[in-house]
Amino acid sequence: MKNFDSIFKFIICGTDTDIGKTLISSFFVRGLNSFYWKPIQSGIESQTDSQTVETLSQVSKDKIIKEAYVFTKPLSPHWAAEKDQKTINFDKLKLPIVNGPLIVETAGGLMVPLTRNFLQIDQIKKWNLPVILVCKSSLGTLNHTLLSIEALKRRNIDILGLVVNGEKHLDNPKTLIEFSGIPIITEFPDIKKIDSNNFDILWKELDIKNKLITLLNSKIS
Ligand SMILES: Nc1ncnc2c1ncn2[C@@H]1O[C@H](COP(=O)(O)OP(=O)(O)OP(=O)(O)O)[C@@H](O)[C@H]1O
Ligand SMILES: [Mg+2]
Repeated sequence: MKNFDSIFKFIICGTDTDIGKTLISSFFVRGLNSFYWKPIQSGIESQTDSQTVETLSQVSKDKIIKEAYVFTKPLSPHWAAEKDQKTINFDKLKLPIVNGPLIVETAGGLMVPLTRNFLQIDQIKKWNLPVILVCKSSLGTLNHTLLSIEALKRRNIDILGLVVNGEKHLDNPKTLIEFSGIPIITEFPDIKKIDSNNFDILWKELDIKNKLITLLNSKIS
């Protein structure tokens, strides 16, 4: 099989905060044995996202790239930075050069400000990697997800596909595809026991690697 490792580089963003970006990132990091980077972490009261991904994915420590910024308060980055009396230097947000797959997890939703005049989505545009958009499966997702897709499309940001996260919904996935034309990479179930063993079972069952390859190929051809 062709070596796709060098092109398995994705931005994992979400339609909202707390939507499952870290969980889905952990799943992809484990499945692809990839590097992980959460450039901006707001809030250190509980585990940081990097710590969660390290635990859940069980990849080697050196695959977890150090955050560019860790702010104390669980606030939007622009305000969290101000509270800590820090200023974001955009040079520090340049993508790390790694030898292999890379998953980058964004902060919050797309329109979250990183500074008073720069949004998360502006940074996504600069990174210029395909986006995987995590959205919830349940009521409210049609509005949030279609708005997020519209914002990404307007900026010509390449969307690889959606990960619809949570309990299976009988209509939402179909409706999202119909209105947006964006493919669904997978419907990721609500899982009771979140661990690397269950991730491995799901990785195979959902056939993620082949789906990624098919989607990447469809863009090249
Ligand atoms: N499919 C799922 N099954 C079970 N629990 C889930 C699932 N998806 C997310 N969760 C849980 O929901 C919570 C929020 O998920 P997560 O931390 O991944 O969100 P996030 O989008 O990364 O949030 P943030 O914006 O803070 O980075 C976590 O406790 C996570 O374990
Ligand atoms: Mg997270």
